Amino acid sequence: MCGIVGYIGYEQAAPFLIDGLEKLQYRGYDSAGVCTNDGEKLIVEKEQGKLEELQDMTDNGNNVKGTVGIGHTRWATHGRPSKENAHPHLSQSGKFAVVHNGIIENYMPLKQHLLENGMTFSSQTDTEVVVQLLEYYYDGSFIDTVIKVVSMLKGSYALGIMCMDDPDEIIAVRKGSPLIVGIGEKENYLASDVPAILDKTRNIYRLDNDEIAVIRRDGVSVIDRNKNNIEKSVEIIEWDIDAAQKGGYEHFMMKEIMEQPKAVRDTVFSRIKDDRVILDEIKLTPEQIRDFQKINIIACGSAYHVGVVAKYIFEKILRKPVEVDIASEFKYRDPIIDEKTLTIVISQSGETADTKEAMEEAQKLGSHAIAIVNVVGSTIASEADSVIYTLAGPEIAVATTKAYSAQLAVIYLMAVYFGDILGKINQEDYKYYISELKSLPEKIKSILETSESIKDIAQKYYECKDIFFIGRNIDYALSLEGSLKLKEISYIHSEAYAAGELKHGTISLIEDGTLVIALATYGRLYEKVISNIKEVQTRGASVLAIGCEDQTELNKITGNTIFIPKACDIMLPSLAVVPMQLLAYYVASFKGCDIDKPRNLAKSVTVE
Ligand code: AGP
Ligand code: GLU
Repeated sequence: MCGIVGYIGYEQAAPFLIDGLEKLQYRGYDSAGVCTNDGEKLIVEKEQGKLEELQDMTDNGNNVKGTVGIGHTRWATHGRPSKENAHPHLSQSGKFAVVHNGIIENYMPLKQHLLENGMTFSSQTDTEVVVQLLEYYYDGSFIDTVIKVVSMLKGSYALGIMCMDDPDEIIAVRKGSPLIVGIGEKENYLASDVPAILDKTRNIYRLDNDEIAVIRRDGVSVIDRNKNNIEKSVEIIEWDIDAAQKGGYEHFMMKEIMEQPKAVRDTVFSRIKDDRVILDEIKLTPEQIRDFQKINIIACGSAYHVGVVAKYIFEKILRKPVEVDIASEFKYRDPIIDEKTLTIVISQSGETADTKEAMEEAQKLGSHAIAIVNVVGSTIASEADSVIYTLAGPEIAVATTKAYSAQLAVIYLMAVYFGDILGKINQEDYKYYISELKSLPEKIKSILETSESIKDIAQKYYECKDIFFIGRNIDYALSLEGSLKLKEISYIHSEAYAAGELKHGTISLIEDGTLVIALATYGRLYEKVISNIKEVQTRGASVLAIGCEDQTELNKITGNTIFIPKACDIMLPSLAVVPMQLLAYYVASFKGCDIDKPRNLAKSVTVE
């Protein structure tokens, strides 16, 4: 998620706040704002769009009075990008101001309770619930009210809070989303990430979950929710600003690979309530969903690969025919689509012209279009009939990783949600899928912890000229993504092939030493993939297998296997994709490629 900055000292706050936000804007955002205390009231200046808008409005902060302030760059999750939805948010009377990174998962019931008790809201965001709760429960003690309110919140949040009655402190709270406190001389700072404060100090406290920082000019105290003091050790930042923007990783791509557990967690957990999948974003009644005769999935690149995985999953569970189209082909094939077809478009950016055009074509033919999108308020999101946002946060690297994984997570949620409505999932299976969904982030994290072993494997293969990916069923769908990841950042030629299809021609390309990466996670067809592995080995191929941890014989056959944790078969792609992302990354790294910005590629292809 996005950027938080705070300042308390004897200098004017706003110029520092805006400079700090400028150093965080690499994270992607859609609006920005600052709040300061001018001695009489809390002043908020905020605007949708680029930081330049705010800089122009405030003369780079010079015309905003006050020596205490908080600032924010927003990456919208709840409520489209707009001035009203930008942060900071003020409470109803103007007594409190809040900036927030993350998601308040239970904001709806909290908002409902406040509305029923006479509170009014001025935005569609989840965040505004926090500032109105502070006002509603304020008992005269700033810190006690903050503790009371955050104890009511579920989800991930980094908060910066100001109160008119306590003008000489900023309170910061961390749960899930990162937050640091910068230690200065007679002034102190708050930020969601190191780059914002490096010009001022390299001494920081890195807040841990559930810690609360009370930040004053003359010092910072960190407490827990029982107001017990917590001794924090000062961390001295050695990074330069470039390394700091990547969270200490060498590339945004690695940072985003490592953010996948959180991206999947945020996307899944915000849509599971009392162990039921809640997809209110889908503006269809159960009757309308039962009326659909088929599903058409349309996307490009990696998003298309998610669609291919989805076809296997939806047809297996929903027992409805599913077509998957490359968006640039869909519009011009005279598709047979009508109001009985459910269209699903998938797009990280929400701006891909091919996908946008294809969706418009499907809508023209009467189809309801559900968009799975990562950028709130993007064109595809705005034009779709229903939108399900992946909550992966800003994705900077051209090669998608965390957004792909979050898209897969949405597919699983939809499969369970639709399966239940269509009566294709019994309650026992429902509970099983929910349990498996909840365990995904930790399983992904456990694979990420083996990244060094995958780096060693990459060192063996980075000089290959041709690499084949093979698999069956969802492993085939996944091999498409493994091949694209490798191609687009390492420039090595690669092909993905249905393992059973290789023998119908392409196997003629296999010769001594050809690397074949065989995906063998899908248990039902495991024995058949083993046969395909032996087929290519007899023709000289070197095989690297990816299989589940209980498929120990794989290593006896290939001598070269990456094992992933077991999971329910429809969710195996979320695990098996991680080694392939890491392999592509390290191969490209050994080759010295420009990993975040590969040649010829753009993060969003906005031309047909
Ligand atoms: C994926 O790594 C590529 N950057 C590319 O294939 C991408 O998935 C494709 O261009 C679709 O982009 P979108 O998801 O933003 O629509
Ligand atoms: N969920 C909040 C919103 O949509 C905060 C998003 C962020 O982290 O920038 O406003």
